[in-house]
Amino acid sequence: MTIQSIEARRIWDSRGRPTVEVEVGNADGSIGRGIAPAGASRGTREAVELRDGGPRFGGLDVQRALRGIELEIAPALVGRDASDQASIDALLIALDGTPDKSRLGGNALIATSLAVLHAAAAQARLPLWRYLAQGRPVQLPLPQVQVFGGGAHAGRRVDVQDFMVIATGARSFAQAMEMSAEVYRAAGALMAERGALAGVADEGGWWPAFARNEDALDTLLAAIERAGYTPGSEVAIALDIAASEFGHGGRYRLALENEELDSDALCERLLRWLERYPIVSIEDPLAEDDEAGLIAFTRAAAGHVQVVGDDYLVTSAQRVRTAAERGACNCLLVKPNQAGTVSETRAALDAARESGYGTIVSARSGDTEDVAIVHLATGWNAGQIKVGSFARSERMAKWNEGIRLEGRVPAPAGFAGRAALAGGR
Ligand code: PGA
Ligand code: ZN
Repeated sequence: MTIQSIEARRIWDSRGRPTVEVEVGNADGSIGRGIAPAGASRGTREAVELRDGGPRFGGLDVQRALRGIELEIAPALVGRDASDQASIDALLIALDGTPDKSRLGGNALIATSLAVLHAAAAQARLPLWRYLAQGRPVQLPLPQVQVFGGGAHAGRRVDVQDFMVIATGARSFAQAMEMSAEVYRAAGALMAERGALAGVADEGGWWPAFARNEDALDTLLAAIERAGYTPGSEVAIALDIAASEFGHGGRYRLALENEELDSDALCERLLRWLERYPIVSIEDPLAEDDEAGLIAFTRAAAGHVQVVGDDYLVTSAQRVRTAAERGACNCLLVKPNQAGTVSETRAALDAARESGYGTIVSARSGDTEDVAIVHLATGWNAGQIKVGSFARSERMAKWNEGIRLEGRVPAPAGFAGRAALAGGR
């Protein structure tokens, strides 16, 4: 069965910015649709988003990316078999011809690659997760749910980017959602009581009106307790420090505390947080250019906590293998648009698994109603998923899709639960 048509259009993401959608039509009438999400705190080695520049929409329009799909990608893909993802992705990479996908754009490539994947599943008349699982047993992923959104997602109101919870006591995906909902509500109520409720950040987490980064941690702990859960055993904390946003060359500037720390001092600060708070996962604790710091932090923390690489690993199989050799991180954040194609995303996930790393499939801060990552996390049996907060429909669409998959027959075989966490705490 062959690809008959490829259509690209500009749609709009959750920040109201242009993004790329691609629709692939097969000869049998089945179709697949892929959408490129967009990050705000990007790793420097991510596949490059092609944006138009100029005055329109702050330079963020994607007409050039659409033109590349229409003039170069579509003619090359029509007549090929959508189920041959590996050779289609190889063709996309070759067509682009640059190491960072900057000519045709990582946004054009990932939207196309995902659309081809969806088209193949549609042609096989299977839901995407099942198509990906290929008959192997898979589980619903353990969710990381944002409660406060900071860093680049909240005008840098606090330095740390994501204050999240993980329902470590949940026995199903639906129960993890219930527990996260209660904590999210309790955190909002706590903020309202202290007159600090000021709306939400880019991923729907409460706007972090705090005087110190640690105040957010204290409030999160109080919210877990107010919701009626035992911190740690029932609901634990996960952080994305996103340190590349406030640190370069081994120097870190905490704007909120008006402090400058070197790599060792930031490590110590974070290790102190690990002692004081029930934190089970910590992402990008040091900046992407501070490999020595990441190795030192991993050595100190990885025995009992998950150390996640996002900006540092950028969903690259090669970077995961190198990091594993050097002892940096023990878990990979998997963002398809960092890699640029489905096959490269899958290769990074496989490399992480082979290295004994945990894996978390992740949305971006600029996202859409697209729920593909829930299917990727489930069908690839990634174990964990990170989508943003418990508000705003580009986030809720994904959580709700997880609930649907859990209730479906045949459903994935159970829920990954806290066993999916790397670092074994
Ligand atoms: P981004 O950040 O999608 O804004 O790049 C998300 C993250 O750092 O995990
Ligand atoms: Zn991150």
